[in-house]
Parts: sequence; C-alpha cells; structure tokens
Amino acid sequence: MKLFIDTGNIKDIERLSDIGIIDGVTTNPTLLAKEPGDYRDNLKKICGIVKGPVSGEVTATEFAGMMTQGHDIAKIDQHMVVKVPLTKEGIKACKALSGEGIRVNVTLCFSPAQALLAAKAGAYFVSPFVGRLDDVGTNGMELIREIVEIYDNYEFTTQVLVASARHPIHVIEAARLGADIATCPATVIDALFNHPLTNIGLEKFLKDWDAAHAVKA
Ligand code: G3P
Repeated sequence: MKLFIDTGNIKDIERLSDIGIIDGVTTNPTLLAKEPGDYRDNLKKICGIVKGPVSGEVTATEFAGMMTQGHDIAKIDQHMVVKVPLTKEGIKACKALSGEGIRVNVTLCFSPAQALLAAKAGAYFVSPFVGRLDDVGTNGMELIREIVEIYDNYEFTTQVLVASARHPIHVIEAARLGADIATCPATVIDALFNHPLTNIGLEKFLKDWDAAHAVKA
C-alpha cells in the first residue's frame, strides 16, 4: 500500500520524505490556505521533493471553470494530479480531463455509488473520506470495503485513496482491506512509528551493551 502525506506544509513533507516512506502528497484548499507563499510555487516545490503524485484541487464549481483550473494545475509539474469534487460537474470534468491524459483525483466521496461514478468517469484516484464519516456516526472503513469489492468485481483501474485518515487504525484497516493508498497528516505518519516496547527494548539493548563493555574495560 502506498502512503501519502495529506498536507501543504513543505517542512513536514521534506522531513518525512527524507526517511523514504512517502509515495505522494494530497492537498486541498483548506490545507494550502494555511501555508505562506503562492500555492502554485508551493505545489511545484512539493513535486520536486516527493517526485510522486501530488494532488491539487480546483475551486471552481462549474465544468468550464474546473477545466480551466484543471489545465492550469496540470501544467505546474508532471507529477500533478487534478482533484475535482464528486459533483455532476466534477464527474464531467473528470471524464474530460482523463480523456486528455490528465490524471484526476475525485474527492469528497462518501458513498459506494459515488465511487462507482468516479471509476466510470476514468478517475485515477478516488478519495473516500473515512474520518468525516466516522464523525457523523457512519463507519468510514465500511465504505472502503464496499468500494474495493465493487472495483474488484469490474477490474476498474481507479485507485482507492483512503482520505481523512485520522489515526493509525485507519491506516492499518486500509491496508487490511486492500486499499491502494492511505493519505494522512504528518502527526498520523509519525504515530505509525511509535511503540513503547521498541523504546524500552532499544534502551535495554544499549544499556546491556554498555555494561558489558564497561566490565571488559
Ligand atoms: O484531503 C482530504 C482529507 O484527507 C481531509 O481530511 O481530516 O480534514 O477530514 P480531514
């Protein structure tokens, strides 16, 4: 399973990419609005760091505007993926942009029916939001199970990108269900590394090593 970082923060992207476990980046208007500087320059920098798919979202809500912004985003860098919302206009733009060879991430997906439409429109990624479903008392991971089942039935090539992942359990469940990608904030990726027994074990190994060498010396 691929792991993406869900942020527009260059420092976090650099820090985690340097470890070698980041395959791509997702952004949205909320995330990019938090960062200083021009968003196009920031996206260009991010592409240079990760050298993998970087999603940038349109803010237009009708087809023509989405197409103009989609072309503009795609021109930023070869790694850019154009994100469109799962609306009728967004699905139409997905179909048109995909037809031109531009990779599209259909975002704000909250149902298996919506995911089916994204796949039929040729989406490269579909982004079901698991955390936001959990927030309203619906099991987000159940949606992932349904989408993976539907896509497998018809061998759709659209990749399931688990978005709005809020904690390591979302990432583990995404991997168990066979999702293609999980995208998470930096805090969640940091949390994936942690286990108290690792720290305790390492401390003991080093202490034992030092003690043995102290005796010999
Ligand atoms: O980029 C979309 C998504 O991951 C948003 O996450 O935590 O704002 O629901 P969240």
